[in-house]
Amino acid sequence: MGRGSSNVYDVKTNPSGIVSLGVAENRLMHEEIAAHINSHLSITKRSLTYGDGSVGSDQLRQSIANFMNNTAFRPKKPLELKQVTVLAGVSSVIDCLAFCLCESGEGILLGRPTYVGFISDLVNRAGVKPVLVEFERRSKAIHPTSLEAVKCYEDALIQSIQNGTPVRALLLCHPHNPFGVCYEPHVLEAYLKLCAKYKIHLISDEVYANSIFASTDFPTPPKFTSVLAFDIEKYIDPSLVHCLYGMSKDFCSNGIRLGAFVSQSNPDLHAAMRAISKFAWPSSLADTAWCDILKDENFLSTYFHTLTKRLSTAYEHCISLLKQHGIPYVPAHAGPFIWIDLSNYLSSPTVEAERELAWRMIDNKVWIATGEAYRSERPGWFRITFAVDEAEFELGVQRSVVWWCL
Ligand SMILES: Cc1ncc(COP(=O)(O)O)c(C=O)c1O
Repeated sequence: MGRGSSNVYDVKTNPSGIVSLGVAENRLMHEEIAAHINSHLSITKRSLTYGDGSVGSDQLRQSIANFMNNTAFRPKKPLELKQVTVLAGVSSVIDCLAFCLCESGEGILLGRPTYVGFISDLVNRAGVKPVLVEFERRSKAIHPTSLEAVKCYEDALIQSIQNGTPVRALLLCHPHNPFGVCYEPHVLEAYLKLCAKYKIHLISDEVYANSIFASTDFPTPPKFTSVLAFDIEKYIDPSLVHCLYGMSKDFCSNGIRLGAFVSQSNPDLHAAMRAISKFAWPSSLADTAWCDILKDENFLSTYFHTLTKRLSTAYEHCISLLKQHGIPYVPAHAGPFIWIDLSNYLSSPTVEAERELAWRMIDNKVWIATGEAYRSERPGWFRITFAVDEAEFELGVQRSVVWWCL
């Protein structure tokens, strides 16, 4: 988080603060979520106890299972309560998972660019080595979500083993962060086969599963297919396949801190995570708040419709400004951000110049996430969050490099 999380802009209380467009924060449904929680949350005597234990209440785990059974995930086999372990955010889930799956120094494959948080989640406690997969330094650049990219993962895996770092898992972000696109089913199938070939875990982080939207770039966006929707046993030992979900993104609630580890055929791994879950125990208040929402079918029936409509509007506004300023971008159809190319504004094609540009923008009171943090293979790319108030987004763009270079 760092730079953009202090002295944050507020139109009334801190107009000279930093406009934060660098966090994957969907603010488009804040009012609706806050209103739901404020009108439903009731603290009972049970909320003040340790309840059902440290991996989420039975009620929440069942509600997550029901929700996933009935929304974008559509698991091949219906999810059950015991296949869901809840911790204080998906970051905590990844941290615990890395700790349970790997010895310190062992590797997990991550494609470049990668969601920045994966690195710290894997490294800081578990001491896992991110094995970064490159797609550009080849005779022909390969798109990271394409079928050809699967071979790049295999090459990186083989290289890692040759260098003495065993690989235990492949971690995908689906839909992709920072590109904001889904992996197509035939590509996911190839990942299932690759993981089967090397007997490694496939972890699919699906936190943006219900944030798919239409736009002029994608009038009919591709349908999201969860890794759980496959007939997994046909491809791989099902104990190796895991899905992650949480409240932060689709429910616009980064601050509530709830994340779910969902795995249908690995009770031992759930047990191992439970054994260390005390350190990431979700609060009963957060637990109750999400549970109330997940059980409220009336609320949900309009919530996702409105969320995706607002994402479409905010995305159109964002790309119209990008086009106006001649900024290239990767067309997206999922999530609250877009990957943009500011390399024309670098003083030289280097990471140092990218850092310098980011600091100049911070000095000018706007924070946009640098490609370097995402382990981008090319300097000059940034990730900008568009799912924010329109006026604030425009102010952010005005404070950014595109304006002072006019
Ligand atoms: C792909 C992905 N996974 C996990 C997280 C973190 O989720 P949480 O807030 O539940 O820890 C983020 C946040 O940006 C994310 O983009």
